[in-house]
Amino acid sequence: MKSSHRSILAVLAGTTTVLSAQQPLGEAVQQQTHTKLEEIIISSPLLSFHRNIVEIPSISESEKNVGEYIIDFLHSQNLTVEKQIIPGTGKENEKERFNVYVYTGENRYPDILLTSHIDTVPPYIPYSLHSPFRRSGAFNREDLVIAGRGSVDAKGSVAAIIFAALETLNENPNASLGLLFDVGEEQSGAGMRHFSDSDLNLTPPTYHTIIFGEPTELSLVAGHKGGIRFKVIANGKAAHSGYPWLGKSAISAILPVLQHLEELEDIGFEDGGLISSELFGKSTLNIGLLSGGLAANVVPAYAEATVSVRLAGGSTNDTRRIIQRAVDRFTGGDGSVVVDFGDLEGGAAPQYLDVDVDGFDVITVNYGTDVSSLDIHDEGIKKVKRYLYGPGSIHVAHGDNEAITVGELEEAVEGYKRLISAALEKYPR
Ligand SMILES: *[C@@H]1O[C@H](CO)[C@@H](O)[C@H](O)[C@H]1NC(C)=O
Ligand SMILES: *[C@@H]1O[C@H](CO)[C@@H](O)[C@H](O)[C@H]1NC(C)=O
Ligand SMILES: *[C@@H]1O[C@H](CO)[C@@H](O)[C@H](O)[C@H]1NC(C)=O
Ligand SMILES: [Zn+2]
Repeated sequence: MKSSHRSILAVLAGTTTVLSAQQPLGEAVQQQTHTKLEEIIISSPLLSFHRNIVEIPSISESEKNVGEYIIDFLHSQNLTVEKQIIPGTGKENEKERFNVYVYTGENRYPDILLTSHIDTVPPYIPYSLHSPFRRSGAFNREDLVIAGRGSVDAKGSVAAIIFAALETLNENPNASLGLLFDVGEEQSGAGMRHFSDSDLNLTPPTYHTIIFGEPTELSLVAGHKGGIRFKVIANGKAAHSGYPWLGKSAISAILPVLQHLEELEDIGFEDGGLISSELFGKSTLNIGLLSGGLAANVVPAYAEATVSVRLAGGSTNDTRRIIQRAVDRFTGGDGSVVVDFGDLEGGAAPQYLDVDVDGFDVITVNYGTDVSSLDIHDEGIKKVKRYLYGPGSIHVAHGDNEAITVGELEEAVEGYKRLISAALEKYPR
């Protein structure tokens, strides 16, 4: 997959318009090539469906239209579809939000659940086709690049999951499969949390296998890092900048603390640093937002920073304790700079996933997914298997160059089918 990944970047780096990565072409030739690319999409139900869902904008909180489209499509395939409405939060201009839950006939509690998310990050980027870049001029169908917001994350997974399920059911109508397409993954996990707390997620679990779809470059993911967020807050005392000794600068107080926190990445756990692990390497810390002060001639009375840590090991509270201790030690606990962790149930511990199906590369990733938003109530009984797999690369997923190849999408259908059949074989009815 590495090579096709490179070709995506090569095409997108050098061009903003369709086909311009090619030698300059006459208009007639361009038109001809464009028609050829269109035909590739139109002649494939998978690629057409993928186009249709990418063309419907679905930035988090505006997933309704794409949800309705997917429901209509699955109805037309004679599947049973439930809309799982997410209760509103009372915000102004709130749109209806729902997860799409799908199964065959009346099999509401299937053995195998495949899931991905239908929301995307902003901004919307239109769908476009890009002829693969080949010096030789050779044209490979599978290298055709499809760009647009959500083409990878996660509508590539959504389309591949649906076609893998349809093909599996076509060959084996009794396969006990369910599909869950949820909303809000990119924001807060609202959709998966709602499913998790619903009557579709019973104790003990009714499913034995869950396959999560996210861009993994067609590898199985052995685990992903967890994460926490917190604020660092400094309170000082305002004064005229001509008489700074009458005040106390919150900005001067917060800066060295933030610098110290950044250093925790490289300090061993024994010495008060962040936790690292063999599987994930270091925990990493990012100071993503910083604000404070009022004007150049006022000693700042207030400053705050919002920080996130990607956790390579331990629990969320383990890392909260490390951060708290580091700040207390550094400031001598004088209260000039404090940490606000907010909700102590928030954040997510690192997640460890199953990789016991042959024929896949195995990787780890640093991003969060819906995996941590689903509580599986399998304590003390046979563990539910969890797999994380999908087409496309996370490196382009949230960028303005989000794109995937035809080859990756088609290979993902085969990959999901292999994961499904491995699960069916492990637990025959
Ligand atoms: C759905 O069911 C109807 C009625 O049984 C049948 O005519 C139709 O072919 C089915 N469609 C698909 C896509 O299976
Ligand atoms: C599906 O299940 C039904 C009822 O258990 C059985 O009669 C049928 O042979 C099964 N079909 C396949 C393809 O396994
Ligand atoms: C973290 O610790 C707090 C305070 O002891 C506790 O209330 C909370 O449940 C813990 N969070 C987790 C995720 O265990
Ligand atoms: Zn995603």
